[in-house]
Amino acid sequence: MTDNNPMMLTTRETGNDWRVLPAFLPLPGMGGLTINAFLHKGREPLLVDTGLAALGDAFLDALEAEIDLRDLRWIWLSHTDADHIGNLVRILQRAPQARVVTNFLGMGKMGLLGLDTSRVHLLEPGARLSLGDRELVPLRPPYYDAPETLGFLDTRSRTLFAADSFGALLPEPAENVAEIEAQTLRDGLVTWSSIDAPWLAMADRDALGRSLHALERLAPTTVLSGHLPVAEGNLSMLTALVHEAWCLAPATEADPQMLEAVAEALDDSLATRLQA
Ligand SMILES: [Fe+2]
Ligand SMILES: [Fe+2]
Repeated sequence: MTDNNPMMLTTRETGNDWRVLPAFLPLPGMGGLTINAFLHKGREPLLVDTGLAALGDAFLDALEAEIDLRDLRWIWLSHTDADHIGNLVRILQRAPQARVVTNFLGMGKMGLLGLDTSRVHLLEPGARLSLGDRELVPLRPPYYDAPETLGFLDTRSRTLFAADSFGALLPEPAENVAEIEAQTLRDGLVTWSSIDAPWLAMADRDALGRSLHALERLAPTTVLSGHLPVAEGNLSMLTALVHEAWCLAPATEADPQMLEAVAEALDDSLATRLQA
């Protein structure tokens, strides 16, 4: 890598009938972060997330090499963070049939961002999205950075989309989780999860463990994360990393901004002042 600009990588097929539109965002001193969108070219074509605005032309070129956007029917919005909705407006302009799949909070945030909500397909709690030959079952991933986050399980291919869960900082782009050295993956996943979801340090460990176990019961064949190379059949390895990091022991050093730490520090300074 010669600079710190994000770059589109080569579009790839997964083991299932989903394609990955990957990008890599260098983060100085920390390696970089994978930023994926996904495309399903079935009976009712669906795009998951819309990439970085900074990569607009390159992202659209990669997408339009795969599909005539006039055929696109759905855009599944995992959440409204900038790295997931960067090219939403441009894609909607070129995809007149496409509707944006999100929930009540997602639609509200779109409105606050000045985005057109007239083409939203609102997913009510418990509702599924039918693509004709399969359903996408919405789910809340085990951890996330925005409360509107929607992952899904594709009932036909058993592909799991985990939104921001299982994201990892990596020293360089990779095509598949299997090619990442175990310790590199562990460190990158723990570091990124502590940055992106710092509430994990305060989470109920038993509840998080039950959530990870429930995810395993879904038995996905492929795990798609917004911020990790594709994981084929590696779910239990990923859940084990999260379990070890956040259910068995605190993953990181004490966060000085956690309220307990702040209160303790101020208690100390107050006691010092009283003694003076
Ligand atoms: Fe996010
Ligand atoms: Fe993200």
